[in-house]
Amino acid sequence: MKNNFEDQVKALSRTLLLFLFLLVFLIGGLFYFKMYPEKLHSKKETFKEIVDVDTEIENGIHIETGFVADEGMEVTIQNCTNCHSAKLVTQNRMSKEGWKATIKWMQETQNLWDLGSNEDLIVSYLAKNYAPVAKGRRQNLEDIEWYELE
Ligand code: HEC
Repeated sequence: MKNNFEDQVKALSRTLLLFLFLLVFLIGGLFYFKMYPEKLHSKKETFKEIVDVDTEIENGIHIETGFVADEGMEVTIQNCTNCHSAKLVTQNRMSKEGWKATIKWMQETQNLWDLGSNEDLIVSYLAKNYAPVAKGRRQNLEDIEWYELE
């Protein structure tokens, strides 16, 4: 009789311990997702929700973002305007390598997702429409009124 009672107590404490573990696990999970809510969704899903591209174009410029209308613009808008304004992209001028490096930097440090098969299209679009402007040597000065130093 005594043995049986002890067994029951042991079984009960084991069950309680199991519940305690589950509780700790549950609370830990709740805290984790409260701190990192983005982990609940896959990144690819979230950006489709956020960016609903309005395709209105005027004089070759996409009105809402200021992007130049060209092949690859839509996919660039979808992937490049969620975290910062489109201006941060359009005010820059870079070569293909430069754009690739910027994207790589954002992927490594700013949580930018893998662009997959869209990367080539985006980089080509950017390198074509936001290429470095070659300045070369400045133009000669004309119509200057020179004066003598005394
Ligand atoms: C996941 C978020 C995120 C996405 C998406 C994103 N970026 Fe960024 N990007 C950042 C952050 C953060 C910065 C730094 C902003 C700052 O300095 O204020 C940044 C900065 C930049 C800069 C400025 C870099 C510099 O040297 O100052 C450029 C250009 C840029 N992004 C282009 C792009 C392009 C092109 C895309 C699409 C392929 C893109 N971004 C998508 C997060 C993102």
